[in-house]
Amino acid sequence: MPQSFRTLLVGLGARGRVWARLLDEEPRVTVAGYVDKEEERLAAVRDASRVRTTACFTDLADALRTVRPDLVVLATPPMDRSGDALAVLAHGAHLLCEKPLTLDLGEAVRVVEAAEQAGRALAVGVNFRYQHCVTRARAIVRSGEIGCPAFSRYVYWRNRDGYRPGLNRYPLTMRQPMLYEQSIHHFDQIRFVYDAEVQRVSCRCHNPPWSMYRDDATVSAVLELSGGILVTYIGTWSAQTRMTDFEWRTDFDRGALVQRQMFSDLSIARGPDAERVVPVPLPAQEQLVDDARLLLAHVVEQLAAGTPRPHPSGLDHLKTLAVVAACEESHQTGRAILMEDLYARHHVPDRWLTWREAGRPEG
Ligand SMILES: NC(=O)c1ccc[n+]([C@@H]2O[C@H](COP(=O)([O-])OP(=O)(O)OC[C@H]3O[C@@H](n4cnc5c(N)ncnc54)[C@H](O)[C@@H]3O)[C@@H](O)[C@H]2O)c1
Repeated sequence: MPQSFRTLLVGLGARGRVWARLLDEEPRVTVAGYVDKEEERLAAVRDASRVRTTACFTDLADALRTVRPDLVVLATPPMDRSGDALAVLAHGAHLLCEKPLTLDLGEAVRVVEAAEQAGRALAVGVNFRYQHCVTRARAIVRSGEIGCPAFSRYVYWRNRDGYRPGLNRYPLTMRQPMLYEQSIHHFDQIRFVYDAEVQRVSCRCHNPPWSMYRDDATVSAVLELSGGILVTYIGTWSAQTRMTDFEWRTDFDRGALVQRQMFSDLSIARGPDAERVVPVPLPAQEQLVDDARLLLAHVVEQLAAGTPRPHPSGLDHLKTLAVVAACEESHQTGRAILMEDLYARHHVPDRWLTWREAGRPEG
């Protein structure tokens, strides 16, 4: 096992630039090459980080042949992701892929299968799992301190300017942008914090007349999870006005957990008669950066230890992506979707569904 993982970063857009910084800072990684199909993106990284021209590529296959990386970080848009992911695994490298793994559950199953067959690690960048408010909420659930979660309301109400400089543009025209780009993080948090699996999904998507997104920017869903947990979810990028609302409240046997900011402000109510919540003290984090730094360090640590399916694994990610796919299908058909039916239709093996990840981050 190498002391330092020779790493190739693919995609130097809004997210890729964060990965470039984090990879540079991670001591167990040596960035051996950069790939972007746009020459100007490569030029920017050359200027900012004094990268050699010979380490810059506009073609992934070319880069894989030349650099022979141990690890590839894929930070391209998700549209054509599966072909690139399969090429990386066929080359014999480990893969850390941005979310969503693909925009098609069947393709995601094939990528996971390819990683399993190649014996290579496949991790997915669900960095929200590494926010302190999320790991702490998960620890509170696991401790049983206020009993078991019973039902919850998850509200994410935001006016996201898809034309803002420095932000990606493809969500403006992609299929179901809110679901595949944003709600996927929220569904993943819900599964992760409750340590429960979604069993049944009902969903309606919607796009208001003023939306700048071609397809639906609002998702309204009811998720029924193992353990009898009921979640009502509403997420939107098309709020009218710039007032952002966030609240994730969960009621337990003996209290409640409430998160009132997107990345912080967790509080707890203890006892069924509690009249107020008490803040849960947490260290500050740079949004979407510090959590990804922790994720990267954790993945590299597991790779160094030879963990075959490092957390957050592609195999586990299938169960979050499947919730997104179920939402889309429920919206299209007007029917509730049973997850076991969806998995059967996509030939997801039972052994994958019953497999449990070890080494999840704890608060
Ligand atoms: N986890 C998070 O918090 C988070 C935050 C933002 C974005 N993301 C994810 O990161 C991914 C990238 O998003 P982004 O905002 O950086 O998008 P972006 O459009 O800003 O950048 C994508 C970059 O990839 C390049 N590219 C496209 N296809 C390519 C290919 N086949 N080969 C090489 N380069 C290619 C483009 O030229 C561009 O530079 C998406 O999956 C997105 O969901 C995750």
